[in-house]
Amino acid sequence: MSKKLTLGMFGFGVVGQGLYDIIKTKNLNLEIKKFVIKNADKKRSLPAELFTTDPAAILDDPEINTVVELIDDAEAAYQFTVTALKSGKNVVSANKKMIATHLEELTEIQQQTGTSLLYEGAVCGSIPIIRNLEEYYDNELLHSVSGIFNGSSNYILSKIFNENQSYDTALKKAQELGFAETDPTLDVGGYDPKYKLAIVASHAYGLYIKPDNILNIGIDKLDQQDIRFAKEKGYKLKLVPLAKEINNAQVVLYVLPKFIGKDNMLYNVENENNGVLVKAAFADEQFFYGKGAGGHPTGSAVLSDITALRYDYRYEYKKHLEAQELSYSTDYELNIYLRYEDDVLINKLNFSSISERYYADNFKYVIGKINLKHIITHLNDIKKDGVFIAEIA
Ligand code: HSE
Repeated sequence: MSKKLTLGMFGFGVVGQGLYDIIKTKNLNLEIKKFVIKNADKKRSLPAELFTTDPAAILDDPEINTVVELIDDAEAAYQFTVTALKSGKNVVSANKKMIATHLEELTEIQQQTGTSLLYEGAVCGSIPIIRNLEEYYDNELLHSVSGIFNGSSNYILSKIFNENQSYDTALKKAQELGFAETDPTLDVGGYDPKYKLAIVASHAYGLYIKPDNILNIGIDKLDQQDIRFAKEKGYKLKLVPLAKEINNAQVVLYVLPKFIGKDNMLYNVENENNGVLVKAAFADEQFFYGKGAGGHPTGSAVLSDITALRYDYRYEYKKHLEAQELSYSTDYELNIYLRYEDDVLINKLNFSSISERYYADNFKYVIGKINLKHIITHLNDIKKDGVFIAEIA
């Protein structure tokens, strides 16, 4: 018999409402006792007495044994999560920034308090990748985990490449559909997929790498020339995070746009869908596909975590226990496309080889091999207007 859960929910936005829609169709032996929201004046679809702006209504209520945290503000989410875990409540969160930034400490608190923090909804919406990394691949040697981890930027790229929409129109639509973060720079700048990558890396390789130490470059500098380049070569552009083991001893992590051809599994992942490509020593290549953003898909992952708590499920962080002794590295050679204006940048970046070069008055690019370290060192130059960098297959 499953345990009865009494829930307190922080937030009632896109994901909160999506989750509620799903819960109300089922008989799950759980009750939502209180919602804590930020804006008391907003009209809600549920009785007013269920809502309060006072976090203590959840955190200090001994009847509430499960906290569901679905708010935007990572700092407040962190405070609520820590307080809840320390008072013996289990927590389900979809806040990727909060989890990625504080994962090591949150893991320790779970161990000290015997509580459980689950966050499937934080990574790739409806795709159950965390549970699979924990349970299914626990004894696998993972060569890499990569894919499309951000629905909004993938939606924008799909609209640009398939429907010739403008970047701004597509971004606005992604916001209207509730896919984008409140600050969409997090999506298009590659921060959101970076948070997800840090969480994935922890479950895949047993490493806690702070997001600030992971390179992220987004799609915000993409322009017509890059799109034309891609179309002429038969490529699409995707924003691709990568976690990869190298030299049997190190792990490389970064988020970069990537030009990919038809032979790549990610080529047909369109709109807000996400895809996770796992390359493993024994299972070989596997591909997970599904909606990466939106109230119902993300709500379904959150619900799966909530219902898992009825059976006392917790992550065991198995890869951390294995003491694989992997270390984090940024010494890794990439094949890249670089559109630039100032020739000085080419010298600074220290290409180890150049395979293609185009030089016209209004469009210059090189394709060649470059070390990730050099990209990181010259990030300020790369992030300037007139420059676009992408990995190329
Ligand atoms: N803004 C995120 C995305 C929401 O577009 O993927 C889901 O995490």
